Amino acid sequence: MKGIILAGGLGTRLYPITLGISKHLLPIYNKPMIYYPLVTLMQAGIRDIALITTPEDYPLFNKILGDGQQWGINIQYLIQPNPEGIAQAFIIAKDFLQNDKCCLILGDNIFFGEGLEQQMIQAQEAPGATIFAYHVSDPERYGVIFLDDNKVPLYIKEKPANPNSSLAITGLYFYDNDVISFAENLKPSARGELEITDINNIYLKAKRLNVNIFGRGIAWLDTGTHQSLLEASQFVHALETRQGVKICAPEETAWQKGWITDDQLIQQSKYFDKSDYGPYLRSLIKQDR
Ligand code: DAU
Repeated sequence: MKGIILAGGLGTRLYPITLGISKHLLPIYNKPMIYYPLVTLMQAGIRDIALITTPEDYPLFNKILGDGQQWGINIQYLIQPNPEGIAQAFIIAKDFLQNDKCCLILGDNIFFGEGLEQQMIQAQEAPGATIFAYHVSDPERYGVIFLDDNKVPLYIKEKPANPNSSLAITGLYFYDNDVISFAENLKPSARGELEITDINNIYLKAKRLNVNIFGRGIAWLDTGTHQSLLEASQFVHALETRQGVKICAPEETAWQKGWITDDQLIQQSKYFDKSDYGPYLRSLIKQDR
């Protein structure tokens, strides 16, 4: 299983804050946004990751994440010159994926909660494709899944006006290798994009789509508007302050997974000694002992 993080686009919905910087490098409280989807992939046990971004933003991602070796993972960078749709990720990543299955995560989606890791591991073992839905109060902002009376999925629609379903599709998707050829045969939508919703509908029609609904124990935060960006920071701040933990620190996940040693964690923590991040990383080892 390989991972793809899609972190391109222009971030126009967040203008003017994204005029000079990719939205995925904005802070979510105390970490760059990109840490969160990256750590979600790491939690799923995925160590071979392609990050897709723009030619302009690539150097900064490389500066922050490097090749991933410091966290026991492998990060490659691929370029999407223009934001021509989420499903284009599979065409761009074709050589990287080869014959493997993949997990795509959108670079602006934040997941947190009990049981998430387990659900992602199950999704890797399931045939076909697996997507995750979440009840929201503003479904018209997302891809929405419609179910029949027996809760069987009927179809998915991208940003429907006045939907009578509140089940939004989150930006975490697991696919078998057929996703590449499906993407290659897609036609751009009316808005000129290769739509991830069209891919999901192909799997749905072929009865090869598993739809899991995240329960209350899992938080899915989207950072697509000024309001939701602020709320995501507030959520992380509240949780971290109350529980004395950090959410989505890559060093911590790498260490928990046994991908880096105690010594490597201590070494890396020293970069961050001027903030509370470094001492926090070292405290993990003390607690463990
Ligand atoms: O957040 C979940 C939603 O994400 C899903 O419910 C929708 O079905 C899906 O289409 C998508 O909707 P958005 O309107 O939120 O997509 P957006 O254009 O904001 O892009 C999502 C992320 O993907 C963002 O981090 C930018 C990146 N992206 C997007 C496109 C279209 C790219 O890197 N390249 C692209 O061409």
